Formats: sequence, C-alpha cells, structure tokens
Amino acid sequence: MANIGVDILHAATLLGNNNLVAIPTETVYGLAANALSEKAVVKIFEAKNRPSFDPLIVHVADVAQFEKYAQNIPDIALKLAEEICPGPVTFVLDKQPIIPHIVTSGHHTVGLRVPNHPLTLQLLQTLNFPLAAPSANPFGYVSPTMAQHVQDQLGQKVPYILDGGSCAVGIESTILDFSKGNKKVLRLGGMSLEFLEGKLKTKLEVQTSSSNPNAPGMLVSHYNPGKKIFVGESINKLLDEHAGEFADARIGVLAFRDYQPEIDKKLQRVLSPSGNLTEAAYNFFTMLRAFNTLPVDVVLAEWLPDEGLGRAINDRLKRASTN
Ligand code: TXA
Ligand code: MG
Repeated sequence: MANIGVDILHAATLLGNNNLVAIPTETVYGLAANALSEKAVVKIFEAKNRPSFDPLIVHVADVAQFEKYAQNIPDIALKLAEEICPGPVTFVLDKQPIIPHIVTSGHHTVGLRVPNHPLTLQLLQTLNFPLAAPSANPFGYVSPTMAQHVQDQLGQKVPYILDGGSCAVGIESTILDFSKGNKKVLRLGGMSLEFLEGKLKTKLEVQTSSSNPNAPGMLVSHYNPGKKIFVGESINKLLDEHAGEFADARIGVLAFRDYQPEIDKKLQRVLSPSGNLTEAAYNFFTMLRAFNTLPVDVVLAEWLPDEGLGRAINDRLKRASTN
C-alpha cells in the first residue's frame, strides 16, 4: 500500500529519483512523474495501463514557465493564461524539444497547466523540473477526487500519495488548443465555456470527439464505474422506456436534484439538491464511483442542464454510459 501524507520534501525526493507520486489538484488527483525523464514517465503508463497514444499533461508552477516547455505561444494564449492560471484549464501549445516524445505521444504539441492547489504548487516550486500527470486512475476508470480513491486503485503501484483533501472542482481541466493557429476546446472541463468565451471575447470551437487526431485521449468510452449506465432526460422516462429490460435488475439512480420516490434511497445519489452545477461537479466522480460497490446491476442517470459545468458533466456521463 502507498503511504499517505503531506510531506512535500518526501514527495520531492521520490520524484527526483524517478519515482511516482500521486498529487492533489483542484480538479482530480494526478499520478505524477518528472516530465523531463523518460525513465520516470514510462512508469506512469505502466501503472495506469495507459496506451502510449494518449499524451500526458505537464504541470508547472506558474505561467512564466510556459516558454521553457512551449514555443510560438500566441499572445492571446499567454495573456489568457496570465489571467486565469492557476486554474482548471490546460493549454495545448507547440512543444519545446526538451519535452520527451513519450510525454506527448509523439505529437509536436504539449499540454501545459498550472494546477490551483496549495500543496502541489508548493511542490512544483520546490522542484527543478515540471510534472507529467494524468488522472490517478487505472486507464478507462473513474477519476479520483480523494487520496483514498488513489489508494484503493493504485496503492500497490505508487509509493506516496500527497493528501490534499477533496478536490475543490471535481472534474478535469478544460483543454484549450492554441497550437498551429488553433483556438479550440479539446475537452470540456472545470472551467466553463461561457467563462472562457467571456475572457477571450469570442466564440470557441468545441471539438471533443475521439475522431479528432489532435485530441487523442478523448475516448468514446471512459469513466467506467463497473456498472452499466443508462442516461436519459429524466429517471422517470428511463424507467418507462426500459421497463421490460429492468424487470429483474437492481436499479441505482444518479439524479441531478431529486430522489426517485419508488427506489431505495440507499441506492441513489443526488448531485445537487439545490440544482447548483458547481456542486454537482464537485460530487460527480465520488458519486459515480460509489455505484461500483453498491448492490445494483444498472445505474440510471439524468442529463444535467447543458450550460456551465453541466456541459462538462454531460460529456462525462455520455462517455461513462458508452461501452
Ligand atoms: O485536470 C486535469 O487535467 C487532470 C489533473 C491531474 O491535472 N489531468 C488529466 O489528465 O485529466 P488525463 O491524462 O486524464 O487527461 C489528459 C487529456 C487526455 O485526453 C490527453 O489526450 C489530452 O489531455 N492531452 C494531453 N496532451 C495533449 C496534447 N499535446 N494534445 C492534445 N491533447 C492532449
Ligand atoms: Mg483521465
């Protein structure tokens, strides 16, 4: 099992010796290694069972570091980064040669992000290298938002988990592509489209499909909690439409605001009784993960309003329900 603690110097020593450390961020926990060391980064792919075509995000202490690891950065991207970092957003930019190909899966771009978590920012300031870190879950599974989630799934494979409590945002960063003249969203995430468009004073193209060669990790099937998931307009509608199919199934419910009266409350999770999308994002992965151990055969979930963080949660619900 991994040790869990708040010892930044211990984490820094492990990382300096090419070992893995799980780190807290405001979005989800990351499985970190020295991004400049191939020997360290290969351990991430092994521990997660991650296919080598899926590139890793590189985490840095501040925007001033961007020029060390990226080049041809458009002014608009740099200006935006200075305004909104640290925060739940990743910038895809042309990479500098110092970033090894294993990190970027052979692409000439690199995803850079300044995570907004005090422990990890302090850790990054201590290190003289950036941290490559995907979400700290086995490939294809639900992202971890607490140290214990990492322990449960990757505890055998990572020596140390830096414990930063529950992740404040709860869903992964929004990925913005500013490479090669692009201005696109590759992944909807913890920073809403409306907010980003407001900052940029322009509409953004959203291209999050797995067929986009510039978004190699956006797989159609992802975030699997080990149960079959159906998503619909409302739980009632799903129950009506699939009545025959569910006749003998034990049903779990992942609802937005309200419990479903005819189903045992213990088998239900409500994302935000007050209908707050930020609260729903905070609860989303923990509640989705709970169905893994609850005695249910199928999970019925309902779409959230397609605005703000609701859009990013819906994207994840769609991938979680695809197998
Ligand atoms: O919030 C987050 O972004 C978290 C925390 C730990 O920082 N990290 C995270 O990493 O979600 P991961 O590996 O689970 O998802 C990273 C996504 C993948 O879909 C990958 O394809 C994409 O980022 N990505 C990374 N580098 C890229 C690049 N150069 N071009 C396009 N997409 C890239
Ligand atoms: Mg992930």
